[in-house]
Amino acid sequence: SSQASLNLDNIQGDVLFPITTSTKTFFFFGVNNAAQFKRQLGNFQSSITTASQASGQRPATTVNIGFTQDGLNTLGVKDDLGDNSFSNGQINDVQAMGDPGTGNWVNAFTTHNVHGVFILASGSSDNINTELNMIRNTFGNSISQQYRLDASQRPGDQAGHEHFGFMDGISQPCVDGVGECLPGQSTIAPGVLILGAQGDSTNRPSWANGGSMMVFRQLQQLVPEFNSFLNQNAIMMPGFTPVQGADFLGARMFGRWQDGTPLDLSPRAANPSLASDPQRNNNFTFAHPDEDISSDQDRCPFAAHIRKTNPRADFQPQNVVNHIMRSSIAYGPEVSSSESQFSKTQQNRGLAFVCYQSQIDQGFLFQQQNWANLQSFPFGKNEDPGFDPIIGANAGQPRAVNGLDPRNTTRTMTLPDFVVSQGGAYFFFPPLSAMASNGRL
Ligand code: HEM
Repeated sequence: SSQASLNLDNIQGDVLFPITTSTKTFFFFGVNNAAQFKRQLGNFQSSITTASQASGQRPATTVNIGFTQDGLNTLGVKDDLGDNSFSNGQINDVQAMGDPGTGNWVNAFTTHNVHGVFILASGSSDNINTELNMIRNTFGNSISQQYRLDASQRPGDQAGHEHFGFMDGISQPCVDGVGECLPGQSTIAPGVLILGAQGDSTNRPSWANGGSMMVFRQLQQLVPEFNSFLNQNAIMMPGFTPVQGADFLGARMFGRWQDGTPLDLSPRAANPSLASDPQRNNNFTFAHPDEDISSDQDRCPFAAHIRKTNPRADFQPQNVVNHIMRSSIAYGPEVSSSESQFSKTQQNRGLAFVCYQSQIDQGFLFQQQNWANLQSFPFGKNEDPGFDPIIGANAGQPRAVNGLDPRNTTRTMTLPDFVVSQGGAYFFFPPLSAMASNGRL
């Protein structure tokens, strides 16, 4: 089953055109009354933001919706969607993801009571509350809130930056046939993200074609602890101030400077005009004619977060399968003065991580388990890369990372966790047609 071209009126907006407005609410709900819920979904379906809408003039408030396997069961939908990770639920992947158990998980995600999620996004939280009231009125007591996360972009010049201070949302795959690609983007078949689309070889029930699998993760970030680690382990290149040395270690962990400048293009200093130029800020492969890609970490460590999760020319030919579309947003307050004074997190903040793919064990789970957590990845290097310093997870144990210090790439640094998984869930984001009055849902 494959579609010749994508029907952007039938695919949800956030899947193909990540919606990263200034505020977002994740409203996780349980279904109490399946028949009533289905009736109301048919009425509500036309309010769900499509990819066509998201690609152009967006409504002031966008709405997207997804269902867990527990939700589909509750709605009486028995078809196998062809994704085992989805069917078993995220809690089944605790070990595979490297989480240290579920002790830090948000309680709702350890139950079978989360049946779906509404993602509401807008420039104002008033709009979001209005829309949420509308949803509560529409669905009445057929649904009940299980958990709610209100997230918003960081203030001022940190807008778009995650809490460690790094610009996020720069590099995304380019979906073949959808818009124009920027230099350096990986071109992927639509079936890597969309069920039943060209390149998806899994058997799906036809009503699910046009849908996508979404991974939600609430990833707490220990920002004062991260900053203090950078200060204490600053990499003092000749002429660097301590602040520059700390910034440099952070940049080595990510593979980009805070403003988004790729280390591969500018290894010793950020370059703001390069960072803000979409024609240039993703146009690199880690390969250089004058360097051996199996030993050179002078520009970018093998273990850097953006290299672990998109190894570019470390693969020959480049990988066009294990890709995700990310649509994350920061949650939680800025670091307080007492938190930075004591280098200790007191308030919960982090990343409301969201990504889409057609097959979770080829997308998010593949990147987390087989790349970020695997010390020998990228393969074939003269030194083991070690863990991804940002998201690499070792069941709560310290993580060895190599290659962070360009003066001595055989030096191993041992890092505590700066990102703490608070769990999450896997969702199916159905095509609009499946939610119409005569649809399967
Ligand atoms: C890129 C931060 C979790 C996959 C990035 C970038 C930043 C970042 C700053 C570079 C900017 C960009 O290209 O968008 C974080 C933080 C995380 C986190 C702070 C946790 C708190 C994850 C997770 C995954 C992931 C869990 C997947 C398992 C990616 C991918 C890229 C990326 C695929 C793009 C790489 C590229 O194409 O160059 N992340 N991230 N991230 N991240 Fe994360």
